[in-house]
Amino acid sequence: MRRIDQLIASLGYGTRREAREWLRESRVTVRGVPATDPGARVEPADVRIDGEPLDHPGRLLILLNKPAGRVCSHDPSEGPSVYGLLPARWQRRNPAVTSVGRLDKETTGLLLLTDCSAIVHRLTSPRHKVPKVYRAILDCGLPPGAEAVFASGRCLLAGDDKPCEPATLRRIGEREVEIAVTEGRYHQVRRMFASLGCAVLSLHRTRFGDLDMGNLAPGQWIEFPVNHFDPA
Ligand code: URA
Repeated sequence: MRRIDQLIASLGYGTRREAREWLRESRVTVRGVPATDPGARVEPADVRIDGEPLDHPGRLLILLNKPAGRVCSHDPSEGPSVYGLLPARWQRRNPAVTSVGRLDKETTGLLLLTDCSAIVHRLTSPRHKVPKVYRAILDCGLPPGAEAVFASGRCLLAGDDKPCEPATLRRIGEREVEIAVTEGRYHQVRRMFASLGCAVLSLHRTRFGDLDMGNLAPGQWIEFPVNHFDPA
């Protein structure tokens, strides 16, 4: 049960003051009866605004095919963000929708977004070793034995004091590779290839845990049941 004015505001409809106005104007009903008390505690499923059920009163989990040129940040000074691809109301929710880990501005592909901190924690915690798979185009051919270096758990990135967890590398073409990592260090994939002397020209995430993107076009997203990852 939630306070009705808080509930309406937290789902991004407007401020609490606006919610109270709508209550006064009888635009909000609970089980069909106009609600006027902003402090009333209600079941979200019972509430209607202008006759419409509430927009996703539970938690959100979204799978986005991130296009290039969008940042995983809420700071507008960093450029256009992935959140700008979502409905405006969802962008105003509190708790805010955030990305599960980050992709670089120019990285494309599978990005999860959620307002459920338990999901973020579960999927980004190094303890859970959730595999992330990327396709990369490199500026040079990899040296022989690159697979063994990444698989060994001894790949040390510039500036880090702990080597990376074992990662799986597969060569697809002369300069095209697939890599699966279980951590989410800053610029991890680009820095792993840099440790072997290659720059990443393009990077695309194809899988996150057991999820792939199917046929989603860049910029498109789908919703997922929030219990998909069975958060604690
Ligand atoms: N590793 C990177 O270097 N960049 C990303 O965006 C994701 C993983």
